[in-house]
Amino acid sequence: MFTIRQAGKDEDGAAWLQASFNAHMGWSKPPGYFAALLGRQARGEVSLLLALNESAYLGHCIVVWRSAYPGFRERGIPETKDLNVRPEFRRRGIGSALLDEAERLIAVRSDLAGIGFGLYADYGAAQRLYIKRGYMPDGRGLHYGANPAVAGETYRVDDDLALYLVKQLGKI
Ligand SMILES: CC(C)(COP(=O)(O)OP(=O)(O)OC[C@H]1O[C@@H](n2cnc3c(N)ncnc32)[C@H](O)[C@@H]1OP(=O)(O)O)[C@@H](O)C(=O)NCCC(=O)NCCS
Repeated sequence: MFTIRQAGKDEDGAAWLQASFNAHMGWSKPPGYFAALLGRQARGEVSLLLALNESAYLGHCIVVWRSAYPGFRERGIPETKDLNVRPEFRRRGIGSALLDEAERLIAVRSDLAGIGFGLYADYGAAQRLYIKRGYMPDGRGLHYGANPAVAGETYRVDDDLALYLVKQLGKI
């Protein structure tokens, strides 16, 4: 059993989230990551969504209301980012439930929801999940950071090399 809710704004929450993520996800966020997110949420820049079991952290994602990716920012498309579910709780619908809530929030402001994924195997689950949910490539091709990848050039396959997708909300 799990619930999805938006994070509150207190700093204790940030410390608890940071500790939970670092203890359970298999890698660590930089110090102050969740405190910074709560600060951004207080300024209206992002919404931080949590998946919880009782008080235990199971996963999270954020909705970035003004995306750093030009293909979304120019079109006013909010972007869901940083979707993470604790490894031992995967394949139980938690990632889907976080995306359901993100899309519900986005639908209030936009007909389109944006999302991106990396191209190597660590992102395989996300690639399948997003396509299954009706996200389509946005037609702008691969990007490295904010810049379009240029045919014939060489790029490093890392987290900056990404494909961005959009979903027409309410249609799929
Ligand atoms: C991507 C992620 C958030 C999915 O979370 P989850 O809670 O396991 O997702 P769900 O249980 O809602 O999965 C829904 C569907 O996605 C697909 N899917 C999820 N994980 C999959 C996997 N490992 N292999 C193949 N398909 C997968 C399936 O179609 C699945 O439906 P099914 O279980 O009925 O077959 C999780 O795997 C994760 O945290 N990955 C590491 C971080 C990451 O890559 N985040 C995305 C950044 S772009």
